Amino acid sequence: MEVIVAPSYAGMSLRAAEVVCEAIRKEPELVLGLPTGATPVGMYRHLVAAYEGGQAGFSRVRTFNLDEYLGLAPEHPASYHTYMREHLLAHVNLAPQRTHIPNGASPDPETECRAYEEAIAGAGYLDLAVLGIGQNGHIGFNEPGAELRAEVHVACLGVETRRLAYEYWENAVANPFPSLEDFPDRAITMGMGTILQAKRILLLASGESKAQAVSQAVAGAITPHVPASFLRLHRDVTVLIDSEAASVL
Ligand code: F6R
Repeated sequence: MEVIVAPSYAGMSLRAAEVVCEAIRKEPELVLGLPTGATPVGMYRHLVAAYEGGQAGFSRVRTFNLDEYLGLAPEHPASYHTYMREHLLAHVNLAPQRTHIPNGASPDPETECRAYEEAIAGAGYLDLAVLGIGQNGHIGFNEPGAELRAEVHVACLGVETRRLAYEYWENAVANPFPSLEDFPDRAITMGMGTILQAKRILLLASGESKAQAVSQAVAGAITPHVPASFLRLHRDVTVLIDSEAASVL
């Protein structure tokens, strides 16, 4: 596991975008795994700028997002479909048929999970998986617990994960959820096995709130109670974090 500490969020974001652009230059048909959340926003900004500046092209890239909230249709303002449109897809030359995000509004989530795993397997699994990490050490929505699931599955959000995600909307200009009770409590997520099949993994973390989880992932026991610790079983993982996220390493 290589750990790179950038001096700031801005530095982490720029380096993350450079890693993605270099990977696309080397392999224009890259199969790219993508996260949502606050952490990769800066990386997406740099990827869009690289595309606009002619330094990156996505025409042959295929993307697979890590997860999507169950019960949210692609058009829902809080869906990860909407997030991806706003932060990347509306701004670069990624054709819709080459971008994949689980359908949270599927009437048959189990079939949706199987189809999503098969689509990723059919693409030969991910060449590069970009990941974020939860304060509790989750990866995707693989939450800490007694056991982890290998394949794409429906996961229950931990109480804290749900509260943190809802908080974002509580502080937003328009909150589509009347209360926490209305916020999704489940999600479709790649399993740890799906993620670990990636040829290369880039884990991003920023801020002091992630320091403990990063330290446990990088140096603690490999345990399902810290799903990110399983990344240490992979032979090509880069942990790219800012100095605050590295503060207890
Ligand atoms: C999102 C995802 C999550 C986030 C994690 C960190 O697609 O898979 O695991 O990466 O919750 O979220 P932020 O970046 O908002 O702190």
